[in-house]
Amino acid sequence: MSAADLPGEVRVLDDPAAVATATAAWISERCARPGPFRLAASGGSTPRSLYELLASSSFRRAVDWSRWHVFFADERAVPPDDENSNYRLLHDELLSRVPIAASQVHRMEAEGADLAGAAADYSALLAAEAGEPPRLDVVLLGLGADGHTASLFPETDALHVTDAWTTRGRAPTVPHDRLTLTLPALNAAADVAFLVTGAAKADALRGVIHGSVPAARVRPAAGGLTWFLDSAAADSLG
Ligand code: 6PG
Repeated sequence: MSAADLPGEVRVLDDPAAVATATAAWISERCARPGPFRLAASGGSTPRSLYELLASSSFRRAVDWSRWHVFFADERAVPPDDENSNYRLLHDELLSRVPIAASQVHRMEAEGADLAGAAADYSALLAAEAGEPPRLDVVLLGLGADGHTASLFPETDALHVTDAWTTRGRAPTVPHDRLTLTLPALNAAADVAFLVTGAAKADALRGVIHGSVPAARVRPAAGGLTWFLDSAAADSLG
């Protein structure tokens, strides 16, 4: 079994910094296309250096931020200034450093008591902003050690939702409550990228190849799927 067995295009880079550089270049190509650029971001530790890089001067100057519309792949049920908030991660590393209009940043409001209502609101927002099914230009995803992606965890109800673009997720670790894009929303995207670094993701990557974990079910119906791995993640399969 090797990284080449993953579904879609596989790019193996030397180290996490090279993963961030390659992903930033890949995003730059896509956001240079005419029209609005709709990106959905994930949390976790892996994309932090990518967000930092996109905010660095060479990218900041080269990108037409006025066409960016930012969405989220998932969010934890915490206030937006909480250290566990995916919005906070993106805000601190990217949004606060580049000229994206606040009206074009669409955070998942997961801090309220009514998570089901918040999920329905975000489904409606996606439909209004990106159509039905929503055509996100780029969705950035991570891979959990258990094979989850966004907040689609193994053996949870969220995996079976087919009648909404956003739903409640339930994580085995705190914060347990989440909002997440559903598989139909992820699979309607124009391009999905997974960022995976480190040997600790070996079992999860094997699960993707075997089709046994949630991330294996991300297969854009009319879009691209690209895996950005560092050599530690890729070699862990060998
Ligand atoms: C989150 C994510 C989640 C993440 C994976 C991988 O909010 O936690 O969206 O799906 O991408 O857990 O996380 P790491 O990048 O930290 O390994």
